[in-house]
Amino acid sequence: MLESIRNIREEAERIKIQSSEELEKFRLKYLSKKGLVNHLIAGFRDLPGEKKKEVGKALNDLKAFLERILEEGNALYLQSEDEAKKVDDSLPVNAYRVGSRHPISLVKNELCDIFYRLGFDIAEGPEVEDDWHNFSALNFAEDHPARDMQDTFFTGDLVLRTHTSSVQIREMEKKQPPLRLIMPGRVYRNEAISSRSNCFFHQIEGLYVDEGVTFADLKQTLYYFVQEFFGEGTKVRFRASYFPFTEPSAEMDIWAGTDTEDNRRLTKGTGWLEVLGCGMVHPNVLKNCDIDPEKYTGFAFGMGIDRITMLKYGFTDIRDLFLNDIRMLSQFKGIQK
Ligand code: PHE
Repeated sequence: MLESIRNIREEAERIKIQSSEELEKFRLKYLSKKGLVNHLIAGFRDLPGEKKKEVGKALNDLKAFLERILEEGNALYLQSEDEAKKVDDSLPVNAYRVGSRHPISLVKNELCDIFYRLGFDIAEGPEVEDDWHNFSALNFAEDHPARDMQDTFFTGDLVLRTHTSSVQIREMEKKQPPLRLIMPGRVYRNEAISSRSNCFFHQIEGLYVDEGVTFADLKQTLYYFVQEFFGEGTKVRFRASYFPFTEPSAEMDIWAGTDTEDNRRLTKGTGWLEVLGCGMVHPNVLKNCDIDPEKYTGFAFGMGIDRITMLKYGFTDIRDLFLNDIRMLSQFKGIQK
């Protein structure tokens, strides 16, 4: 009997309990009703009186030893599971709300992607600009109407940039050609607010300066972009235009159609939606940035992101884009761009 007690103890000492399942196995084997300890106790009753004292003590020691292991295990494994069970898993879950990207950001990212695939890098500049970067370096005459209080928000000597063309200047001042850049950002104009125009909106500026860049490169680049973004076969037209910083200058329209009332409204009934201004970078602009206009030519374009977003997602009022209405925003959930 003493022998069995010693064996059991040695065996139990070697056991390593690492989970609540192992702990339960241990309890069943040694300390349950039909376990080894009770089995020994049953045997103990039949022992002759003189042996009882010695065996009884050994048996008590063994039982105490095993119970201590069980207790320690309980503290380690069962308690933490009890803690976990305090969570009532029948309760409805508190749904984790995933945010969504703003439609303007979705479109901006998609535009950047398309031009990035054509080898354009992405650059950004400040929204509060000085006169030089927003106007003078871009060949605006001193008395150009765009400098007028009507269009521009002035903040002391500085302005809220009226276009992203200011970033062209910042980049050309930093680096010599070849330059191939796409420059997204928010711009501000002091205009009457309506369903078609807002006092701030978003543009994406493109610039490509290198030796031998031509107007054909500009047209082809924009044509490729339109097919990628609006779909194969989308019609475009170029109209001659004027910007102080490009010569020649043009505006590009895409055919949105007159089928729906929304499209008629967005295009003022013509079916054509003006999406960008563009042209060949004016030699004076290159000179202002210390780039040699004899050696280099370039094209630039500036596109309105908001209009394109309205067309793509069927917004009829530009102001709806910025109400932060969760019912609008949550419709863009899951669109990863
Ligand atoms: N900056 C012009 C605008 O805001 C757009 C433009 C950019 C035109 C680049 C030509 C070249 O209307």
